[in-house]
Amino acid sequence: MLKTKIAVLVSGGGTNLQALIDAEKSGIIKSGKICLVISNKYDAYALERARNNGIATAVVSKSEYTTQESFEDKISELLTQNEIDVIVLAGFMCILSARFTSRYPERILNVHPSLIPSFCGKGFYGLHVHEAALAYGVKVTGATVHFVNEIPDGGRIILQKAVEVLEGDTPEVLQRRVMEQAEWKILPQACEMVCRALLEAADKRLSYFST
Ligand code: GAR
Repeated sequence: MLKTKIAVLVSGGGTNLQALIDAEKSGIIKSGKICLVISNKYDAYALERARNNGIATAVVSKSEYTTQESFEDKISELLTQNEIDVIVLAGFMCILSARFTSRYPERILNVHPSLIPSFCGKGFYGLHVHEAALAYGVKVTGATVHFVNEIPDGGRIILQKAVEVLEGDTPEVLQRRVMEQAEWKILPQACEMVCRALLEAADKRLSYFST
């Protein structure tokens, strides 16, 4: 069966990448195939996870490029070479410019560890998001998967899942609960939804031309 080709962009531990790999193995993701993992950090453990599963990897380190444009052009070059259809930002800690995101309208997904529009946008990433949620005193938080556009965390929402905040939570404890109960579930689900929709759209175009 023809599959949508997925690239996953990472910066760190890669537990969301692992959730995607596991979902492909278990058949939760059946319309897409993870073909490439790109990291902006050489030491990202996510790269090890990709290699352990026979997925091609590449590192595009910002420090090796003089401008944001040349950094992003290198990423685009790799995506084109590998004929990638869908890009998943799974803990990718670089903000991408409008020049880049406009090349892939509704084809870039991001997982964010809060219920957008709370605790999102510039400066809200990783553990900081959970620190802010605890400082505010919210009783419910969660995760969001959304399309990426020129506004940080501002693209159309695909899926969200709420998670309870419990008495005595530390940012680390809350982060883990949000990952386990929300991110690792909704990211693969959203990925399958988008991959399937793209396959269906391609099928329609084919049948249009063959009638
Ligand atoms: C995840 O919690 C992800 O939602 C968050 O970083 C963590 C990466 O963990 N992303 C952001 O904050 C983006 N704004 P992982 O490397 O184990 O998947």
